[in-house]
Amino acid sequence: MSRRSKIYEGKAKILYEGPEPGTLIQYFKDDATAFNAQKRATLQGKGVLNNVISEHVFTQLDAIGIPTHFLRRLSMREQLVRAVEIIPVEVVVRNVAAGSICKRLGLEEGTALPRAIVEYYYKDDALGDPMISEEHITAFGWAQDFELDEIIHMALRVNDFLCGMFAAIGIRLVDFKLEFGRFYTEEHMQIVLADEISPDGCRLWDMKTNEKLDKDRFRRDMGGEIEAYQEVARRLGVLPSADIRDIADGDGRKKRKV
Ligand code: TMP
Repeated sequence: MSRRSKIYEGKAKILYEGPEPGTLIQYFKDDATAFNAQKRATLQGKGVLNNVISEHVFTQLDAIGIPTHFLRRLSMREQLVRAVEIIPVEVVVRNVAAGSICKRLGLEEGTALPRAIVEYYYKDDALGDPMISEEHITAFGWAQDFELDEIIHMALRVNDFLCGMFAAIGIRLVDFKLEFGRFYTEEHMQIVLADEISPDGCRLWDMKTNEKLDKDRFRRDMGGEIEAYQEVARRLGVLPSADIRDIADGDGRKKRKV
């Protein structure tokens, strides 16, 4: 780990130089943050769970023809991804009212939206990721018109597919956040899905009980985050057989804390 050069460290992941040009290693930490990192904790095993959940989701999306940065999982906390130029826009797709849309528009949490709604936030921690419109994205050159068309189209395809995938395991996909990047080959540029798709960036409710199986448990001090993420992994059929709390964290040392 430490022999590789670190390219970027975010709140929940680290990017290291990959083994071949044009690749990166995406390392999943156990760190959890909320409210623009004003709230922080370490959730033992979260990185392992997000790694395998995101691997599963990206593999399924690849199988229906959605281009992604994902190449393969390397270890319990690492995956090999294509190096892409990240578009500085967080794309949120909502099916059911929850979180910031409830505050902004006075909606009751749990209200089904008339159709899937796509929102954009400018990726800038110093500004607290402000909400933006398509006009801002194209006027400031964060993405061109044709790129934005492709992003919306892909985001809605991902939403349709994931709604079905989660419904099949008794989970309602309330909302989620996506990030996209530009992948350059010698001949052309392709917009690909990047980052991760995991309970950190999705709202996932049990269909029968409405129990929250996502990071809102952390944001709202509900506890049971790891059990909830494990339940998602178990239902998807990707729960690691080893005790996830036993798998080494960022500093490479084995930890055991229950
Ligand atoms: P919001 O309701 O707080 O705007 O969040 C919408 C979705 O986006 C929710 O599933 C959580 C996810 N999200 C992130 O992944 N990162 C963020 O920084 C924020 C604010 C939300």
